[in-house]
Amino acid sequence: MSFSGSGTVKAVAVSRPARLRGEITAPGDKSISHRAAILNAVANGEARVTNFSTGADCASTVEMLRALGVDIDHRPGSASRGGELTVRGVGMNGLSEPADVLDAGNSGTTTRLMSGILAGRDFQAIISGDASIRSRPMGRVIDPLVEMGANISARDGGRLAPIVFHGGDLRGIEYVQGVASAQVKSCLLFAGLRADGETTVRSPAISRDHSERMLAAMGAPVRTDGPDVSITASELSAVDVEVPGDISSAAFWLVAGVIHPDAEVTIRNVGLNPTRAGVLTVLREMGADIETINEREVAGEPVGDLIARSSALHGIEISGEIVPLLIDEIPVLAVAAAQADGETVFADSEELRVKETDRIAATVEWMVAAGADVEDRPDGMVIRGGRPIRGVTARSHDDHRIAMALAVAGLVAEGEMRIEEAGAAEISYPSFWRDLSTISGTVA
Ligand code: S3P
Repeated sequence: MSFSGSGTVKAVAVSRPARLRGEITAPGDKSISHRAAILNAVANGEARVTNFSTGADCASTVEMLRALGVDIDHRPGSASRGGELTVRGVGMNGLSEPADVLDAGNSGTTTRLMSGILAGRDFQAIISGDASIRSRPMGRVIDPLVEMGANISARDGGRLAPIVFHGGDLRGIEYVQGVASAQVKSCLLFAGLRADGETTVRSPAISRDHSERMLAAMGAPVRTDGPDVSITASELSAVDVEVPGDISSAAFWLVAGVIHPDAEVTIRNVGLNPTRAGVLTVLREMGADIETINEREVAGEPVGDLIARSSALHGIEISGEIVPLLIDEIPVLAVAAAQADGETVFADSEELRVKETDRIAATVEWMVAAGADVEDRPDGMVIRGGRPIRGVTARSHDDHRIAMALAVAGLVAEGEMRIEEAGAAEISYPSFWRDLSTISGTVA
C-alpha cells in the first residue's frame, strides 16, 4: 500500500497481498455515537460515553451541540483507542441560540437528527454543511416537522440545506414515511419528546432501532409495534454508554476475508443488533464462512467477535425488507458480488442514490473501469461475478464507503488499485488505512 498527497490522505494505492491475517477491533459505531451525544445533551444529568466514534461525522455532532450551549469534554481517541465524551445534559429545554450557522460537515445523520432537536425552539438556528449535505433531500424531515407545527424554511422551496429553524409549537402527528429511514424516524421521535400529544412514525419496513433502545433506557415512553414507533413528551435521564463496534466498518474486513483466497481475519467487538446485521445474513447466504464468537451484551446492544475466512461465494438476490438492514454495506457487498459465482441482484435500493454520493453510479463507474460485468438499474444493480477485477485509478467521489470498498477490491485485484479522494474514510473510520496495512502485512 502506498500513499500520495500531503496532509490528510489524498490518494492510496492498494495491491493484492499474498495473504490476509490478523485481528482488528471495530471502531465505535457511528449511529450509536451520534445518538449517545445528542440524547445525553438534552437529558438531565451527566453521562460518560466511551468508545465514541473517532470519525469526522460524530465530531460534527459534538461541535454542533457545543454551539448550542452544551458542555461536552471530548477526548477524540486515536487509531488504537475509541473517543470519550463527558456530556453535561442541559435538559429538554436548556439549549441556547447558536451565534453562527451550525456546520454538519458531511453528516446526514447530524443534519436530520438535529433537525428534530431544533424544531419548535424559542430561538433561531441554521444547519448547513458541505456540498454533499447541501444536495441531499431534506424535505423528508422538514415536511413532517412543519406538519408538527415547526416554523422551518430551507433552500429550493424547503427541500435543501441550509435549513432555518425559527420557532413554532410542536404537536404530535401520525406520520407514514415512504422509505424506511432511521434518520427520519429518529428525527420525528426526538421532536416528539417536546410535542403536545402522541407522535407516531409508521415505516414500510424495520430500520435500525438504536434511537428507540436509547430513548427507552433514558426513561422515555417509547412504544414499538413492528416497524412503527410512538412517543409522547418526556424528560430524559442521562445514561453512560459504552458504544459497541460498528458493523458497517467491520463489513469491509468481512468481505476482504471471504473474497481473498488465503485469509483469516478476526474482527473484535462488533455490534450485532439485528436491525444492522443484514450484511452477515446476506454474506452467509452467499456461502461466506463467518464465525461468531464471544457473544455478549454491551449498553443494551448485542455484540460479538467475528472470524471471516476465505470462501467460495455464489450470487443471490438482495431486495425487500433486508435492504434497510444493510443499506450502508451495499458498496462493499458489490465487491463480494463481483467475486461470486453467478448473478447478484441488488433491488429496492434506490436510497443509495441519495447518500453521501449516488452510490449506485459511483460503484458502477469504478466496476466498469475495472472490467466487472455490472448493470445499472434505477433501484440498484445487477453484478455477474467471476471476472477478475483489474486494478485501475478510481474516485471515491468523496464518499467514505466508496473509498473503503475500492480498497477491499484492491486486495484481490490484478494490478494496483489507485483510490483518489481516499481521505474520505476519515468520515467514519480514520484508522482504516492502518488496519488495512495490519491485515495485509504491508507497511503504511
Ligand atoms: C443512519 C441511517 C441510515 C444510514 C446512515 C446512518 C442513522 O440512513 O444510511 O449512514 O444513524 O440513523 P437513512 O435512515 O436515511 O436510511
